[in-house]
Amino acid sequence: MRIVICPDESDLSRQAAFLVAAAIGRSPRMVLGLAAGATPIGLYHALGRHHADGLDFSGVAVFGLDEYFGLAADHPACFRGNIQRHFLNGVNIPPSRVSWPYCRPDEDIAARCAAYERAIADAGGIDVQVLGIGVNGHLGFNEPGSSLGGRTRLVRLSATTRHANERNFPVAGDMPESAVTQGIGTILEARRLLLMASGESKAAAVEQALEGPVTSMLPASAVQLHPNVTVFLDRAAASRLRRREEYEAETDMARRLGLLNL
Ligand code: GLP
Repeated sequence: MRIVICPDESDLSRQAAFLVAAAIGRSPRMVLGLAAGATPIGLYHALGRHHADGLDFSGVAVFGLDEYFGLAADHPACFRGNIQRHFLNGVNIPPSRVSWPYCRPDEDIAARCAAYERAIADAGGIDVQVLGIGVNGHLGFNEPGSSLGGRTRLVRLSATTRHANERNFPVAGDMPESAVTQGIGTILEARRLLLMASGESKAAAVEQALEGPVTSMLPASAVQLHPNVTVFLDRAAASRLRRREEYEAETDMARRLGLLNL
């Protein structure tokens, strides 16, 4: 696991974008897994700048990590809509290569989730999965207690998550009580994980996820089991890490060796 501590959020976004852009440069038909939420927005805008500078996204395929269940597609909190606004509108990924978990209530949701897993497999699996982390240590909408082998499924949102995300639902009562998320087992099958966190509110979850025991009670701790993880943190999100100075020294070394794009 490489942990990169960045001076601020804009540097974090820029560094993460270099990693994704390099992966696309190496493998133009790569499969990208995308988290929504506030954290990766800077990354998506930075990728738009890479596209403006000539990076071709036309071969890239996208799979969404999670989505609120039953939320109207034009609701401002809809994750698919967020990715459209902050990323897809600024790059040239064909709409036919964008897939998102099916979230309408009038369908056989278990079959839809199984089909989503098959679609990921048929695309060759996810090459780079972008992840944020919840204040309670969730990944996607895998809330504390989620199986570390879990697959894409319908889940109930925890009270903590409902509280953390209520800022995105100005009309009280609008927030769905459930969501569809890739499982931790699905996420761990991606070839590379890119976990991002910024701000003091994430510091405790980051510390537990990276330095605590691997446990379903803190689903993000499962990234410790993955062989290829890069974690981008700003200083506030890294503030509780016990090995913070070692990670900073490793980051400095990587910069000196030209392994980071500063
Ligand atoms: C949200 C989503 C996750 C996201 C995480 C952090 O509720 N389920 O996909 O990564 O929680 O969100 P944010 O980046 O807005 O803090």
